[in-house]
Parts: sequence; C-alpha cells; structure tokens
Amino acid sequence: MHSIVSRVNNVSALLSSCMMALLAAIALSSFVFTADPKGDISIASVKVYPTNARRYPHRKQDMAFVNFNISADLTPLFNWNTKQLFLYLEAEYNNTKGVQNEVVIWDRIVRRKEDANINVVGKNKYMFRDVSHKFKNVPPAHYSLKYNVMPYVGVLTYGEAGRTTEPVEFPPAQPRVS
Ligand SMILES: *[C@@H]1O[C@H](CO)[C@@H](O)[C@H](O)[C@H]1NC(C)=O
Ligand SMILES: *[C@@H]1O[C@H](CO)[C@@H](O)[C@H](O)[C@H]1NC(C)=O
Repeated sequence: MHSIVSRVNNVSALLSSCMMALLAAIALSSFVFTADPKGDISIASVKVYPTNARRYPHRKQDMAFVNFNISADLTPLFNWNTKQLFLYLEAEYNNTKGVQNEVVIWDRIVRRKEDANINVVGKNKYMFRDVSHKFKNVPPAHYSLKYNVMPYVGVLTYGEAGRTTEPVEFPPAQPRVS
C-alpha cells in the first residue's frame, strides 16, 4: 500500500522528468531555428589623437576615434527561446609587436525583436588605445559586428553579422584642436 508521502514523491518525480524533457526540447529547438543574419559595416573615419596617459601624465598616449555605420536586421535571431542579444563591434588588429588584439569599441543589448533591426551611425563608446601607447606603424584593422544570443534555456551562441571587406588604416596622430 502506498503512503501519501510516496505517492507525492512519485508525482513530483514524474513532473520533474516532464520538466527536464520540456527544457531539453526547448534547448534543442534553438539549434533547429539557427539563423545567420548578415549586415553591413562601414567605417566612415578613423582619427588618432595623442592624449595624456593616465598613469604617466608626462607621456602621450594615442587614442583612436572611429566613426562607423552599421546596419543589420537581427530579427531572425529572435525566437521563443531568445531572451536577449548582446551585440558588439570589435576592432581586430595586430600591433607592432605582433600581438593579435580584439578590442570592443561599441556594444548594445537588444531585448526585444522590435529593436533588432539595427541602424546605427555612431562612434566608439569605449576608449580605443593600444598597449604600446601608439598607433604609429600599426597595420590596418578589421572591424566586425558580433553577437551573443542569450537563450531562456540552453547555451549561449555566438555569431558574426558582418565585417569590413578591406582593412582600415590608422592615420597618423594629429594634434587635437582645442
Ligand atoms: C549607412 O549604411 C546604410 C546601409 O549601407 C545606408 O543606407 C545609409 O545611407 C548609411 N548612412 C550614412 C549616414 O552613411
Ligand atoms: C594578425 O596576424 C595573424 C597571424 O599572422 C593573421 O592570421 C591575422 O589575419 C592578422 N590579423 C589582422 C587583422 O591583420
């Protein structure tokens, strides 16, 4: 004869295995609905200005300012398991010491499908400088628009929605007009 306790246990075991199966199905469905939207990136201008380095006020540090235009329709990334998108623009370059760098210069969190058709004409939101303090002789950089899809259930997925076709040069540093 079953006691009430063991009956409750059986029911909750059944419910939790149903729940596990449902969550697994949701997570798997994300792989079925993979979208790979592509957009456009253009770099309108790159300017380099020397500024005072924070730790060594007597030393100049180059700061790069990037004006860009990105347009990408990322609405296909929104399905019933999409919680939000993390979208970012990255500068990729090898510095004069041959170190490969990926620097995030702009980002945005997109929470709703209605906001996922991206058209941004803007400039870098984060400081863009090189560890060597200078962009002089640094080879041209590529810029890429990347995203992470954060699902309600399952793992993060990464993707790239665009990249510059030609690398963009860093111009010589120019004195800032004040
Ligand atoms: C930005 O890019 C889009 C698509 O390539 C283009 O239609 C638009 O005119 C551009 N805007 C500016 C300000 O350059
Ligand atoms: C940096 O160097 C690596 C290895 O030499 C190369 O594969 C990569 O394309 C370079 N990156 C850029 C942005 O030039």
